[in-house]
Amino acid sequence: MSGLNKDHGKLIHMLHDTQKKFGYIPAHSISQISGELKISESEIFGVLTFYKAFALEPRGRHLITICMGTACHVRGGVQIVEEMERKLNIKVGKTTANRKFTLETVNCLGCCAIGPVVVVNGKYYSNITIKKVDAILKEYQESE
Ligand code: FES
Repeated sequence: MSGLNKDHGKLIHMLHDTQKKFGYIPAHSISQISGELKISESEIFGVLTFYKAFALEPRGRHLITICMGTACHVRGGVQIVEEMERKLNIKVGKTTANRKFTLETVNCLGCCAIGPVVVVNGKYYSNITIKKVDAILKEYQESE
């Protein structure tokens, strides 16, 4: 573990570069980084699962993040997630077959007063109801 501590900053830097290049962390990059830094692949996987910013699968062009923190949860966050899953025909954590959307959840975005909150590509949507889900998706479905 001491080796990992020593090279932790370097590892994070390399992972960021890899994700920037490919949009996710491909398996071949993990073995390459493992060889270069002399850190085992399982230790790298540990880092990847700890930092949610890294994706192990290709992501869609549009990243949809639904808040599932307590405040958003009690205001209907679960129904929003279910509606998004149904409309996109994928589960949370997955990407649509056409690589257009990736669906994720987070625990509190720090703006609980305007919940339930959905973020698409960094743009915040507040007080979301099931009825608003369609309009949000259309905005991105029609953007290309
Ligand atoms: S619980 Fe959703 S923003 Fe805080």
